[in-house]
Amino acid sequence: MPDLVIVNQHEQLLRLKINRPDKKNALTNQMYSTLAEALVNANQNNEIRVVVIEGNPQCFTSGNDIHDFMQRPPTGTNSPVFHFLQALVELEKPLIAAVDGPAVGIGTTMLLHCDFVYVGDNAQLQMPFVKLALCPEGGATWLLPRLVGHRKAAELLLTSKKFGSEEAVSLGIASAQVPSAQLVDHAVDQANQLAALAPGAVQLSKRLLKQPIKEKLIEVMKQEGAEFIKRLSSPEAAEAMKAFLQKRPADFSQF
Ligand code: COA
Repeated sequence: MPDLVIVNQHEQLLRLKINRPDKKNALTNQMYSTLAEALVNANQNNEIRVVVIEGNPQCFTSGNDIHDFMQRPPTGTNSPVFHFLQALVELEKPLIAAVDGPAVGIGTTMLLHCDFVYVGDNAQLQMPFVKLALCPEGGATWLLPRLVGHRKAAELLLTSKKFGSEEAVSLGIASAQVPSAQLVDHAVDQANQLAALAPGAVQLSKRLLKQPIKEKLIEVMKQEGAEFIKRLSSPEAAEAMKAFLQKRPADFSQF
């Protein structure tokens, strides 16, 4: 069976490739653990200067695996998804995302933690937590309004609407739009340019940028996580997930 997350260090770059194409790169607990471990190791490995995360040209990730949500849901801060989110917050090296195709749920919220986000022509971002009768996670309720303002954050989070690369760039969620065929090369090129800079200065500057928000961010992530876990066992979420698996619209008229 192929690795569902390919972790590849080449000289000073660590590349993390989400590799579950048959399920649109949906993230399982095991995949979160692999990603979290790779990010923690990146902090400890002096050779690594920059981390790049990517999916495939058709899909960045469809977010949390819906089967896992139903069968192996997160239970608290010891859960693999929380370890991954915590590792994102604690990452000392610059993190670059190369995103094309759908980036759903945590596929978009993880971008709020990245330092550089390049989107291909076909990128389609979405945070459909409310559509799934859940609530936002990963610090989105605090990071997103700071980035785009309350009005736009409310639109994106409450309506679960999809948005493309142009809007992602204009909102500041992405750094730049890049033709799909050049996306990964562009991200790697940017990563190499960053890796050539003085590593101490780069890491200190990243730390200074993130330090003022870190404590609050972790507090918000814990609050969101606790509410998210409660929502997962709600009848509303059961209907939403059953509907997804049965490939039909959810019916919330009974609630
Ligand atoms: N969890 C588990 N399986 C998923 C999945 C997910 N998040 N996203 C997609 N899949 C599976 C589908 O069930 C399907 O499996 P099957 O071939 O066994 O039926 C396969 O991946 C292909 O998905 P499909 O929906 O047919 O592909 P698409 O190209 O039409 O659409 C997406 C792609 C990503 C837009 C769509 O799959 C989607 O919206 N996924 C759900 C996203 C979501 O709600 N994520 C959770 C956020 S909290």
